[in-house]
Amino acid sequence: MTTILPTTARLAIDGGPAVRSADRLWPQWPVPADGVARNLDAVLQSRRWAISSPLGTGELFERKFARMFAQYTGTRHCVPVDHGSSALVVALEALDLQFGDAVLVPSLTWTACATAVFRAGLLPVLVDVDPRTGCISADDLDLDVDARAVIAVHWSCAMADIPALSAVAEPRGITVIEDCAQAHGARWLGRPAGSLGRLGCFSTQNGKVLSAGEGGAVVTDDDALAPVLEELRADSRRYRSDRGRPGELELTESASRMGANFGMNEFVAAILCAQLGALEDQHEIRNRNYALLTELIAGIPGVRLLRPAPEQDRMSIYELPVIFDELPGGMTNTEIGEALTAELGRPFYPSDAPLHNSVLLQPWTKPALAPLTERFVALHKDRTYPHSTFFAEHAVVTHHSTLLGDKQDMADIAQAIAKVVAAGTHRAH
Ligand SMILES: Cc1ncc(COP(=O)(O)O)c(C=O)c1O
Repeated sequence: MTTILPTTARLAIDGGPAVRSADRLWPQWPVPADGVARNLDAVLQSRRWAISSPLGTGELFERKFARMFAQYTGTRHCVPVDHGSSALVVALEALDLQFGDAVLVPSLTWTACATAVFRAGLLPVLVDVDPRTGCISADDLDLDVDARAVIAVHWSCAMADIPALSAVAEPRGITVIEDCAQAHGARWLGRPAGSLGRLGCFSTQNGKVLSAGEGGAVVTDDDALAPVLEELRADSRRYRSDRGRPGELELTESASRMGANFGMNEFVAAILCAQLGALEDQHEIRNRNYALLTELIAGIPGVRLLRPAPEQDRMSIYELPVIFDELPGGMTNTEIGEALTAELGRPFYPSDAPLHNSVLLQPWTKPALAPLTERFVALHKDRTYPHSTFFAEHAVVTHHSTLLGDKQDMADIAQAIAKVVAAGTHRAH
């Protein structure tokens, strides 16, 4: 195994020699899978570019992807949508809640988790996360706010303990929605992410491990929720059950719920059908490299990789958090990220700002949200989020494609971490 030797060399960010030479390239992302170009061409030629196209011959890619992704997630139903954010909106809308009902959202996540709640006419209530995984745990469920749902985000490479959350939440009328935007293919005691909660929401945006630029999906085992989700994402329409006449649409105005257009277009579905075929191999490479990197940095004081709960038997790494329990020489994690980026020629950066500090979450900029905003501001005045704050200040992350590299790439990362820690410690003395 490569040995990581301590170094006293000047940091690249201070003008010293970088750990990695600029001519060594990193993996790029996204990686077009076999068959993508063929599928896209088939869509072009079919002239059915949306699910609301006139009937034609052959199965829509959207239908095919829905089948494939339900199978991948071990669920009975998959309803594809245009974005992960829309997946959250329709999942919340499907629950038939009242305007202003509270929904628990972990602070440590992307802004869409909270903005989707507002978009559904509901009130997000931010809660802290588990200090080990960065995901919401049963202990974080605030039972005082009388919430009707919780968005349990699987964060970065770790999963929330959905069975434990459900055991507390569901008997109290709090529906558990899994947010799997960062967890396609992760498994908890053998069960895939998305199949553990009442509903599972996915994003297939450009950076995600399953990507088509944009896109998303909701999965569920609930036979009653599935047709509602279908209508909510297609202007109150569902797929027709009869064969229809030429020129008619594939969708019929079933209209049990007022929906909006959140439909996945055929180009996105065509890409996803091919990309899904590459996902398992990519998981394997990333997880092998994660194990190697864990070994390589084991001797560096004060640093570790985020470790999922023991029940999580397969990781899906979206971003890899390197946790600096001790910030070397008083450097901030932003400075550590900049130093690593300069050593490696690959972006390392703090994770997204937690929502209680995020400039992206500003409901008061939308006058129509005023009744919710007033309650949102009052509710959050005295809340604290020590564990989210810890991750926000001590984690430095890199995109999952960094882990699609080889052993030498992992050795470079470990070497750069060792160098930054040594330099920081040296500076402090
Ligand atoms: C945890 C989480 N939820 C939801 C979303 C929203 O997905 P999209 O960007 O596809 O709307 C994201 C996307 O970054 C995410 O990371």
